[in-house]
Amino acid sequence: MRTRITEMLGIEHPIIQGGMQWVGLAEMAAAVSNAGGLGIVTALTQPTPEDLAKEIKRCGEMTDKPFAVNLTILPTIKPVPYEEFAQAIIDSGVKIVETAGRNPEPFLPGFKAAGIKVIHKCTSIRHSLKAEKIGCDAVSVDGFECAGHPGEDDVTNLILLPIAARRLKIPFIASGGFGDGRGLAAALAMGADGINMGTRFMVTKEAPIHENVKQRMVEASELDTALIYRSLRNTARVFKNSIADRVKEIESQPGETKFEDIQPLVQGVKGRELFEDGDLEKGIWSAGMIVGLIDDIPSCEELLFRMVNEAEEIISERLAKIVGA
Ligand SMILES: Cc1cc2nc3c(=O)[nH]c(=O)nc-3n(C[C@H](O)[C@H](O)[C@H](O)COP(=O)(O)O)c2cc1C
Repeated sequence: MRTRITEMLGIEHPIIQGGMQWVGLAEMAAAVSNAGGLGIVTALTQPTPEDLAKEIKRCGEMTDKPFAVNLTILPTIKPVPYEEFAQAIIDSGVKIVETAGRNPEPFLPGFKAAGIKVIHKCTSIRHSLKAEKIGCDAVSVDGFECAGHPGEDDVTNLILLPIAARRLKIPFIASGGFGDGRGLAAALAMGADGINMGTRFMVTKEAPIHENVKQRMVEASELDTALIYRSLRNTARVFKNSIADRVKEIESQPGETKFEDIQPLVQGVKGRELFEDGDLEKGIWSAGMIVGLIDDIPSCEELLFRMVNEAEEIISERLAKIVGA
């Protein structure tokens, strides 16, 4: 498959592994890149910019294919030295960055001067157009289905992607709710130049998380995600466990929700420990509605091979027959 995204990034398949807190380690990114997709190391999973530099180096030792780094600019409990993380990315020689969370404008001059392609991930058409205007090279359009932060507009990809196709000039990537060949074919049909996946890549052999988490996601249905932080206007889609239920219960109580009331339940460190020890009720973790379509734990190579073949068959057989080609 050749699209503007495979050409721009120098990758074989139009499939990207989105930044994932605590999951986007060198092993994950290298596995995706070695399988012909674009793997992404997640900057803020590393405690310091120096650790990020080491992680990027480690990833480079595991693959000779292109890989990227995600820089997520979001409100955090502890202040983050974003400028220093951005500088570590520039100094590492990585040539592709995925930004997310806020407007990446302050970081663009540095990235551009270093010849870095910037893919900005956002959840609305207005933010996509803004990203195009400020000089991003591509955008990832994250629909309401996605894991993590879907924004507050609640528009699904069936609507977002065709609007993006009509209005954007730069290449765009469909993100949120993708995990099989049907989804890939559909994204391409809607005008996207590729897809971005988080949840599906968590449930692969190489994902550096506990087997219990993967197994639970294999068992889950499309109804097993929950939207938390709605009352704080910082919505997050997470796996529906007892902690997510408890957070929603606190948020539904009359009056304004204070972050302090839920903070002990949602601490990042608990999510990280959960991924390490497999205690599924310890904290929360991001997961998208695509869990309903995940029923195995393949290697990244098996997954991408299967998805691309399935999509190609749909396009060249099923759809071709429909139009009598
Ligand atoms: C466990 C997990 C952690 C994530 N952490 C981040 C993050 O730190 N920064 C970010 O930009 N996106 C993050 N995401 C979102 C993904 O990059 C991607 O946009 C999203 O998963 C796409 O939706 P999908 O899960 O339906 O494929 C995370 C997703 C998951 C599943």
